[in-house]
Amino acid sequence: MRRAKISIIGAGNVGATTAHWCAAAELGDVVLLDIPATEGMPAGKALDLFQAAPIMGFDAQLTGTTDWADTAGSDVVVVTAGIARKPGMSRDDLLSTNARIVGDVAAKIRDTSPQAVVIVVSNPLDAMVQRTFQVTGFPPQRVIGQAGILDTARYRAFLAMELGVSVEDISAMLLGGHGDTMVPIPSCTSVGGIPVTQLIAPDRLESIVTRTRNGGAEIVSLLKTGSAYYAPAAATAQMVEAVVRDKKRIVPCAAYCDKEYGVGGYFVGVPVILGSAGIEKIIELDLQSGERAAFDKSIAAVKELVSVMNRLSA
Ligand code: NAI
Ligand code: 2OP
Repeated sequence: MRRAKISIIGAGNVGATTAHWCAAAELGDVVLLDIPATEGMPAGKALDLFQAAPIMGFDAQLTGTTDWADTAGSDVVVVTAGIARKPGMSRDDLLSTNARIVGDVAAKIRDTSPQAVVIVVSNPLDAMVQRTFQVTGFPPQRVIGQAGILDTARYRAFLAMELGVSVEDISAMLLGGHGDTMVPIPSCTSVGGIPVTQLIAPDRLESIVTRTRNGGAEIVSLLKTGSAYYAPAAATAQMVEAVVRDKKRIVPCAAYCDKEYGVGGYFVGVPVILGSAGIEKIIELDLQSGERAAFDKSIAAVKELVSVMNRLSA
């Protein structure tokens, strides 16, 4: 059987760790690409990872390159290219630099892998996925942003820590943008099937939500030299797996919403069915009034971010 071809653009922390999770899970052959200035770095990481294969027992071809020709005909392309957030820098500070980088990368993807499903990770996520959509001209089902799986995983991790239970028993859903306006949906959060509101008092739950909203900044302030990558890469690999194995997972992703939720043509975090075609369905939840108001605020923040990006790049 032909293995899927997965290209990861940007061989830094998130890109290389995504390559690691994808190869270890035998999701396909992985091409790790970075800019020419990095010289042997992507090739070195790919070779190092391949030398782990006999120990860990996975079969995957790993290529590190600075040549876009090596990515041609990819089934999935993951975009992690850009600069990462440093202490004191907000995601939005990254906007103009990463919009230029992601725009260049998107043009290369359009020309080399026209049938690919593209998973965007670079920040500010909600704007970078919109930029990728604008430049590739791909159908919206094939352009997806990674944020919701990470944000939800952080929320699930904090809930497990609070209750002293297995992370496996926590099911949750967060909507909206990847940032301070992400929206928890308590009606979709349960622990072993028990609604979370029966286990955690409202004020305590609110402080867990706040910690989740600041989850990226918390890691940045600890690392001091960059931002999170293990959990972001694991979240990205889960999306790759859903596509290459046609899993039909229900997960929160940044998806192009037009009529859906009345968004009007922007990428926001919503529950989707993710399979080989990319986003196969956007699930429209019946939101309670407080949830809807918070979601609307988040959509407004995404629209503002995109309009600043469009202005800066005009
Ligand atoms: P990093 O600095 O370790 O790696 C970024 C890599 O991109 C570098 O190796 C750089 O040389 C490369 N790059 C720059 N321009 C490029 C181009 N034109 N073509 C190919 N490669 C290029 O950064 P890290 O930690 O891997 O983060 C990558 C991005 O992902 C950042 O924008 C970060 O903010 C974002 N991020 C997003 C998350 C999410 O949930 N959506 C979570 C974590 C990080
Ligand atoms: C995070 O949430 C930086 O967006 C990245 O960790």
